[in-house]
Amino acid sequence: MQQAYEKYLHEILIGEAVLQARVAELGAQISKDYHHTDKLMLICILKGGVMFLTDLMRHISVPHEIDFLSISSYGKGARASTGNVRIDMDLRENVTDKHLLIVEDIIDTGHTLRFVIDMLLAREPASLKLCSLLDKPARRTIPIPMDYIGFEIEDRFVFGYGLDLDEKFRNLPFIGVVKTEMLDSLA
Ligand code: IMP
Ligand code: MG
Repeated sequence: MQQAYEKYLHEILIGEAVLQARVAELGAQISKDYHHTDKLMLICILKGGVMFLTDLMRHISVPHEIDFLSISSYGKGARASTGNVRIDMDLRENVTDKHLLIVEDIIDTGHTLRFVIDMLLAREPASLKLCSLLDKPARRTIPIPMDYIGFEIEDRFVFGYGLDLDEKFRNLPFIGVVKTEMLDSLA
């Protein structure tokens, strides 16, 4: 039987095994880099970062907390952030003096991350680094210093593994490229 996502899928860009291997590598690297502290806190950006977070944390062997931040761009279309970013749900924990690691699905223009970084820095953490599963450097309008990147990708609209297509298909275990003709039918 044809799966619902198949009519949107142009091709699989990053398959499950490759994704999982890279997530394990990132987790090992992070464990090494943070071996000196028990004040690591992973900050997952909802909703896109959720699958990456839950896989990544299984590969992080140092003690750490997690917390969630829900962000949206208003006046947004499905495909691009506008730069008008707002907090839908703030963190629950205090981050002062903690070593923060932002866990994000993808960096596109950089607007979302710039907003999150500035907001977190104002709370005076011990340190702040970024971990993004995907990076689309061709689309960047705001420079963002990246500490951990899963994969650099070209300027194509992708979905799966946390990333949505009109809020759906976040559950797919791979990263797929959307068919161009289907993109036009999305908001
Ligand atoms: P930025 O503020 O332009 O960097 O946008 C980042 C956000 O836009 C990400 O956190 C995603 O939620 C969304 N986004 C950007 N590119 C894609 C994509 O190819 N697929 C799905 N969501 C995307
Ligand atoms: Mg996101």
